[in-house]
Parts: sequence; structure tokens; C-alpha cells
Amino acid sequence: MNNYKIVVKTFSGLETVLFKEIISLFGGKAEKLNRGVLFYGTLEDVYRANLMLRTAVKVLVQIAEFDAKDKTELYDKAKEIDWGRYFTVYQSFAIDGIGQSKYFNSIQYVSLVIKDAVADWFREKYSRRPSVAKSNPEIPVVAHLQDEKVSVYLNASGESLFKRGYRQSSVEAPLNEVLAAGILQLSEWDGKQVLIDPMCGSGTIPIEAAFLATGIPPNFQRNSFAFMKWRNFEKNLWLSARDSVKLITDIPRKPYIFGHDIKAYAIENAKENLLMSGVQRIINFKEQDFFELTPPAENGILIFNPPYNKRLKLDDSKLFYKSIGDHLKKHFSGYDVWIYSADESGIKFLGLHPDKKIALDNAKIKAKLYHYPVYEGKRK
Ligand SMILES: C[S@@+](CC[C@H](N)C(=O)[O-])C[C@H]1O[C@@H](n2cnc3c(N)ncnc32)[C@H](O)[C@@H]1O
Repeated sequence: MNNYKIVVKTFSGLETVLFKEIISLFGGKAEKLNRGVLFYGTLEDVYRANLMLRTAVKVLVQIAEFDAKDKTELYDKAKEIDWGRYFTVYQSFAIDGIGQSKYFNSIQYVSLVIKDAVADWFREKYSRRPSVAKSNPEIPVVAHLQDEKVSVYLNASGESLFKRGYRQSSVEAPLNEVLAAGILQLSEWDGKQVLIDPMCGSGTIPIEAAFLATGIPPNFQRNSFAFMKWRNFEKNLWLSARDSVKLITDIPRKPYIFGHDIKAYAIENAKENLLMSGVQRIINFKEQDFFELTPPAENGILIFNPPYNKRLKLDDSKLFYKSIGDHLKKHFSGYDVWIYSADESGIKFLGLHPDKKIALDNAKIKAKLYHYPVYEGKRK
């Protein structure tokens, strides 16, 4: 029975990718929201969403929806929820308020009122209250407000889903795993073509690419999700969600995903992360300066995010991007090139014309994904 209203949160710019992932995983209907997608599903779908959706940041399951215009109404309605269905008095919880309302002064106040309602619900039944945990609560609850409309959700993921469990070590500016998975899907890479990240840092793009190519769920190695702490957690359903994974086996039987970086320690990091991810068979990480890199095959796809040092003077970034463009034109004709960058002025000096520009913020930094088909001579 599709009885749960499920809201999956993502980053701005990845809603369409997430929507497609949800439709292909669950079929049926879904609705795009701002930084999220809504669909209806079962408890097993909640587990599968956490395990398998590559561009999901959090999976929220709605447990109540009501109107409230003042404190008393908010408290009373929050207290009508049967909290004991979801957790016990011995577990810690937290209320995270989001959204806005003209009826309440602050969202923090809304969280506080709901927290009191939950605590009192337990106290009246068991003469004690569950503890409130500021960090890592066992039961994270989200209260979303839009004026008088209040939606209460259990955060089924707990920690954000980009914490996949394979990152052992990291370089200075690693790309977020969800962003990397989103960029790969936006590039429409077919999973079989040669893929190169020539400035791979800690290797996020190649590792997420190998997961995509092999069908390995992004969170296969993660062993903790908040839904495991729910009273209605069904271990058998979780095992069946894991069993439902279909691996893709018709892929090249040799390394065809390449990650390079000029810094030796970045490659060391990438290799450590690779060991944890379990996809060594198809990735090759090697220390290499991009400006000396030649293609390993006649055609393929390059996906990378060059460094964007905010302190880099325009002249430096102009020269850097111009050199990238020159090298691409000289050596990578026949390649599809995707560059993720926040350096709008620098990227103009690439000397190539993008046929696609996709806005995709990197946390608070405004960034774009640019597509350059690199052809010899004129495009046919
Ligand atoms: C923004 S970071 C990439 C982060 C990476 N996507 C990750 O997930 O960790 C940019 C990387 O470009 C590398 N880089 C800079 N110049 C390079 C060059 N000429 N050749 C290869 N790599 C270079 C830097 O060492 C740095 O690791």
C-alpha cells in the first residue's frame, strides 16, 4: 500500500534528475518541489529511497499535517500526534523547523513549541520525557511551515545522504557526492564510454561514476539511517530492499574511468576512498598534470571541476582557463566536455562555446555546469 507521503530533498538544480530517479525506481507519480520531489510509497520504498537515490540529500516521511495560527493551536495539534508509534521515551529526538509563517515570530519558536508538545505527550503517558539531542538525535523530526500550514515529518535518513561512508580522507575542496552524482546524470553519460576527470582531487566524480555504471547503490556501504531507530523498523523489509538491487554487468572489463590530479596527495586520497568504495576494477587513478594529458581512447567524456580559488586574480584564471581550452582543442577533439565552475568570468576565456549551461549551486556558491562538445573543425 502506498500510504506514506515522502518528500525527498535535494540541491537546487537537481530536482529534475531526482524526479527521473524516483520515477525510474518506483514508477507511478511524483511531483517536483523546490529542492525536492514528492511521491507516495511504502515503508520499503522509504528504505530503498535512502539506499538508492543518488541525488537525494534527505528522505522525509510525513506523519501529520494541520493548520495552526497560534501557539495553543500548534501545541495542541502537535500533541495529538501518536508519537509513541514512532519512538520510545528512551530515545533522543530533535525538532528542526523550516519554512516561514506570518503567524509565528520565528521558526525556532515553532520548533520549541512542538518539542514541548512531544515531551509532554510522553510525560503524561510514562511520567518521564525523552531527551532532546542538539546533535545526532536518534529521531530527527522536521516541522515545515508555510503560514498556517504545518507539516510534520520524520527525517528517515538522519545524517545527510551525501555521507556515503566511503570517504576516508579528503582534499581541500572535495565535490559533494550528491552534486557529483547529479552532474554525471546531467551529462547523460551512458556508463560504458571512457570517462575522465582530469582534476579529480579526492576522486568523487570517478567513484560516483563507477557506482552509476555498475548499479551499486550510492549508500550501499552506509550502515546507519535514522529509520533504523523507528519503532516500526522492519529488518526484513530492509534486507529485501538491499536484495532488490540489480547490478549492471555488461560493462567494459578493464579500467575505463580515469581520475587524474597534479597533486600526489590528492591521488593518494582518491585511492584510499576507492578502496573503501569497492569499485577498484574499473577506475584508474594516476598523478598527472592535465596540460600533459593525452586521451586514452578516440572518444569519450571529460567531467571536471577545476580549482576556483576565490583569491585568484582574473588574469590568472583567464590564463588558466585559456590553457585548459587550448589543451582540449588540441588533444580532445571527439570528446564531450563538462566543466563545473563558479568562475563565470574566467570560463569565458576557454575559447569554446558551451551548448548548455545549467545552474547548480555548490552550497552557497553560485556555480554552473557547462557543456562543450569538442569537435575538430566545424561541428557536423
Ligand atoms: C576543486 S578541486 C576538485 C575536487 C574534486 N572534484 C573532488 O571531489 O575532490 C580541483 C583540483 O584540480 C587540481 N588541479 C589543479 N591544476 C591541475 C592540473 N594542471 N592538472 C591536474 N590537476 C590539477 C587540484 O590539485 C585540485 O585537486
